[in-house]
Amino acid sequence: MIKAAITAVGGYVPDYVLTNEELSTMVDTNDEWITSRTGIKERRILKGEGKGLSDLVIPAIEQILKKKNMKAEEIDMIIVGTITGDYTFPSTANVICDKIGAKNAWGYDLSAACSGFIYGLATGAQFIETGRCKKVIVVGGDKMSSIINYNDRATCIIFGDGAGAVLLEPNNEGMGVQDFILKSDGAGRNYLYMPAGGSLEPPTHASVDANKHFVHQEGQAVYKFAVTGMADVSADIMERNKLKGEDITWLVPHQANKRIIDATAQRVGVPEEKIMMNIERYGNTTGGTIPLLLWDYEKQLKKGDNLIISAFGGGFTWGSIWLKWAY
Ligand code: UT7
Repeated sequence: MIKAAITAVGGYVPDYVLTNEELSTMVDTNDEWITSRTGIKERRILKGEGKGLSDLVIPAIEQILKKKNMKAEEIDMIIVGTITGDYTFPSTANVICDKIGAKNAWGYDLSAACSGFIYGLATGAQFIETGRCKKVIVVGGDKMSSIINYNDRATCIIFGDGAGAVLLEPNNEGMGVQDFILKSDGAGRNYLYMPAGGSLEPPTHASVDANKHFVHQEGQAVYKFAVTGMADVSADIMERNKLKGEDITWLVPHQANKRIIDATAQRVGVPEEKIMMNIERYGNTTGGTIPLLLWDYEKQLKKGDNLIISAFGGGFTWGSIWLKWAY
């Protein structure tokens, strides 16, 4: 059976570094609190007028095209996992196709918050496995700074901007996506969401004044769901595929809070040196965390490596993918 393998990775984070020290001048916080509660030291911010998500994603896709010596016209499909697209509509996938000249591609944005990339990876894999598409770009990325209230100290400290992308291609050697478990529970929607701006409450002066266009997160509640959700689903996918901790080359966890990551690793028996981690440098880039990990660790990956990729996010959405690295 044809499998969908990742054959290239690209990533991009903007230059501006927002440190814990700088945040301490903006809200009542300090480096010690942020580091001990979350593991984050700094995050990147896309500064400047007239820049949106597509400005983060395009450099990542261009790296892939360069690495693979490929033309944009060869891309069949682009799926963008994000909650901060350039516009409400059209989709950022649509904008990107135009900007990079992917004239033969179609695609769409996929809204699953921090699980956007894994939802996208599972979706893109279907188009490869059925033979419909030969080259699918799956993107995860967010310009979180566009929806963060920098007066809310419990929320602004964890998020940052960044995006990553992978190329999916057919593989006949058994490499690529092996299995996935994806979950969602809309009962969690009020713990982590953006209250206004959608059709339920369109923008008004009052909604802006009430800070309803920023992320609302009830941190403790989300933490509790995330810690069990991400650990359980990672354990489930390993159990149903008879994988033990020692079979896993890398755990690739969504980077929301180092304590959630550590709990997941402990639950599935993966030691610290096998956990991909870059939360200290980028914080939580929502859809971006997982492809940015693959980008950062690409050189350490080898053909046949077993990766367990797991995420938990707003919605709630969560899940886990077992993937064999193809190069
Ligand atoms: O990626 C999508 C999914 N999101 C997540 O997975 C995030 C999950 N949640 C978390 O990671 C954590 O809940 C946070 C990092 C967001 C917050 O950490 P916490 O340990 O849950 O803190 P808390 O909200 O329970 O607040 C504890 C105390 C409070 O003070 P009192 O009431 O005990 O006096 C807060 O006011 O810490 C205070 N606090 C802060 N102090 C210094 C909250 N934020 C800060 C801050 N600096 N930035």
